[in-house]
Amino acid sequence: MPRVIAANDPKAIGLGDLVDIVETGRFDARDEACFASFGPALGDLAANRDFLADIIVAELKDRCRSQSVRNAYGPQVVMLHAGRNFIVRANFWPAETDPVLQENGPEAFFYHRPHDHNFSFLTVGYTGPGYWSDYYEFDYDACVGAVGDAVDLRFVERSRLSRGKVLLYRAHRDIHAQLPADALSVSLNIMERAPHIGYRDQYGFDVSNGVISENLTETAIEPLLAICSQIGGENARDLVETYAAYHPSERIQFAALTALASTCPSIDARIEVFAQAARRSAPFVARMAARQCAAINAGRHWITRTAH
Ligand SMILES: [Fe+2]
Repeated sequence: MPRVIAANDPKAIGLGDLVDIVETGRFDARDEACFASFGPALGDLAANRDFLADIIVAELKDRCRSQSVRNAYGPQVVMLHAGRNFIVRANFWPAETDPVLQENGPEAFFYHRPHDHNFSFLTVGYTGPGYWSDYYEFDYDACVGAVGDAVDLRFVERSRLSRGKVLLYRAHRDIHAQLPADALSVSLNIMERAPHIGYRDQYGFDVSNGVISENLTETAIEPLLAICSQIGGENARDLVETYAAYHPSERIQFAALTALASTCPSIDARIEVFAQAARRSAPFVARMAARQCAAINAGRHWITRTAH
């Protein structure tokens, strides 16, 4: 369960005030107590009932120029501030009955997808009754992170991010499966921002079976490795091989291995790439490669059939 931050008698402040408080304070997202100490200030911003509507009106008057430049999250988010080491944003949580949810489906809003986070963040309920979550915790350090690995998920509770409630979600510890709010709701976040976050893994979970179901972290590197291995020459292949052997992220190493395997002329050659990788000492690469060998072997009949 994310850490609940006591917000005593919040007094409304502006977005600029919040940014000043974080920028002039000692902000260290890796220090839980330090990050939590900014929770009351986020609660104070949530007590300001006008600032978000004012920002949205201003954006619309400027053809959303600022959002076009700064917002990489899509229409569910309004980016409020992008600082050097933190982000402030607003998130919209539609209800089951809202047309936007019915037309786009719950997946578009990350509902019913149990996941942890590869970054810590503070959040507060701003308007509406708040999205629901089923909360779990797990021990990230006891987990290699391969898809299909069993994880000890400990259910904590179902609760909602009601208006004024401030929570600190701890990276690699708190898991939630979000459920639609009972009516359209908005939350505000202060999120950790750091260049290494893309190399830290965020998982999706199958809570019924207690396993990791997917790795949700994506960088621009993985698709470029796949393309590079297909359309580049020898120089490109050398580069992909270097990623496969030496990149500090095992997830990126495995993406490079998959890219190399995809260029193999036969199924047996593809299996051999993964079989060699399965003997590596890097545990995530070895586990994923072994599973890939098994998957290709299991599907060999269908792959061959398709090839003919
Ligand atoms: Fe989440």
